[in-house]
Amino acid sequence: MEMKEPQVPSLLKLIWQRRSIRRFLESPIPREKILLCLEAARWAPSAENVQPWRFLVIDDPEVKQRFAEKVFSGIYFPSRFAQHAPVLILVMARLDILANRVGKQIQGVAYHLLDIGMAGEHLVLQAEELGLSTCWIGWFNLKKARKFFSIPRKYKIISLIALGYAAKRPPRAPRKKKLSEIVWFNGVERSSPELQAFELNFHPDETLETKTEGDSQKKVNN
Ligand SMILES: Cc1cc2nc3c(=O)[nH]c(=O)nc-3n(C[C@H](O)[C@H](O)[C@H](O)COP(=O)(O)O)c2cc1C
Repeated sequence: MEMKEPQVPSLLKLIWQRRSIRRFLESPIPREKILLCLEAARWAPSAENVQPWRFLVIDDPEVKQRFAEKVFSGIYFPSRFAQHAPVLILVMARLDILANRVGKQIQGVAYHLLDIGMAGEHLVLQAEELGLSTCWIGWFNLKKARKFFSIPRKYKIISLIALGYAAKRPPRAPRKKKLSEIVWFNGVERSSPELQAFELNFHPDETLETKTEGDSQKKVNN
């Protein structure tokens, strides 16, 4: 089936460009940029509009260092790279009785996790647009994180997000499943000829900038 080459919307270009970054420059991030990312998170949708997200920003190098030593020790050692990010954001959820507990019981869906995921991804994409890079980190010691900041039980710790300027970007995008592997039309596992045609016409890799070490910093300085 013939299909016209699709126009690539600017948001999609940004989404293609985003990578999880695991090597950061030490350069600090101005609070204003951090707050712009959090402002984007604030506007995420949430079940019953409960906005369960809470963000604890760790940008004091001394606090971050002590925190990192605690939460990335032992089996959590693989996440140590995150201690070099100038900012770590601890993402938590304040559970709401109606939307979260009743919703979970009746629907069997943990809505607060959906909400947090969306707010976090708003944050991540805004960061990308500002020339910053991020990495979600689920693998860290939750108990030690709670103890470090004396976080009350009413806040459930969900994840960390490392934020900073990329020192190194992976040369290639990780493999993403094709649309035809994950999208069905009007029935279970039912594909459509348009899907294949769309895939043939869409070449995300060609549109990506190849950034090298410190490029994101240069972009910011310019
Ligand atoms: C909820 C969540 C938790 C993650 N935890 C970690 C982690 O602990 N360590 C890590 O290096 N990457 C972590 N990642 C990043 C994923 O490994 C990454 O998103 C995936 O490999 C796809 O790569 P991409 O983000 O560059 O598309 C996490 C991502 C998500 C969404």
